[in-house]
Amino acid sequence: MGKDVIVACDFSSAEAVFDFLDKFKDEARKPFVKIGMELYYAEGPEIVREIKRRGHKIFLDLKLHDIPNTVKKAMAVLSRLDVDITNLHAGGTKRMMQAALEGLTREDGTRPLLIAVTQLTSTDQEAMESDLLIREPIDKVVMHYAKCAEESGLDGVVCSPLEAGKVHDTCGKDFLTVTPGVRFADGDIGDQKRVMTPAAAKEIGSDYIVVGRPITQADDPVAAYRRCVEEFVG
Ligand code: C5P
Repeated sequence: MGKDVIVACDFSSAEAVFDFLDKFKDEARKPFVKIGMELYYAEGPEIVREIKRRGHKIFLDLKLHDIPNTVKKAMAVLSRLDVDITNLHAGGTKRMMQAALEGLTREDGTRPLLIAVTQLTSTDQEAMESDLLIREPIDKVVMHYAKCAEESGLDGVVCSPLEAGKVHDTCGKDFLTVTPGVRFADGDIGDQKRVMTPAAAKEIGSDYIVVGRPITQADDPVAAYRRCVEEFVG
């Protein structure tokens, strides 16, 4: 898979997501869709099958984090949904990540790509120290978690576009960086703190950008999507 724009479909009903996706019916390029907890918990696995039937690639963003055996079995179930990318928390340890990969791998050896969340971008140095008792600098923690994911056989990480270059330096250029926190230069940043434009994310080496509100809340979502693709993929 090459560089692509993944649209975060953060809607809470099938009706809302299909209203949105219907706008892209005549597009030659079908958007790669991210399904997160909100939509998945509202509609269940059938929403994944239906979006897949419509011809979209899917990143199923459920961020699993539990004991290795439970994650392995859950991943085996998710693998049957035939998504393109799914994820977990690197904080679950290498054993959990390796178990997840085993669960995800089908009998014929194929599997969706598996990527790890390192530290959430909503966690800052202060919260990490006071709540998690992790006293190392957050950049170092993120790179360490990325390295653990790579050593466990995972395909990449979700990270800030600001970290993508360093992740590639640490884990190799083929290790995928999937980066949210993307905004147009003339757009609203909303609640995201550290943002980058699609063009800058391309420059720094992100493999996939995840874009939600700048597309879903735009007056013309198709035009906003095209602009992202043009800036990021070229
Ligand atoms: O609307 P916006 O472009 O901010 O959406 C970004 C998407 O990426 C949301 O679905 C959000 O949950 C997700 N995300 C994020 N930061 C992370 C991990 C995921 O913004 N560190």
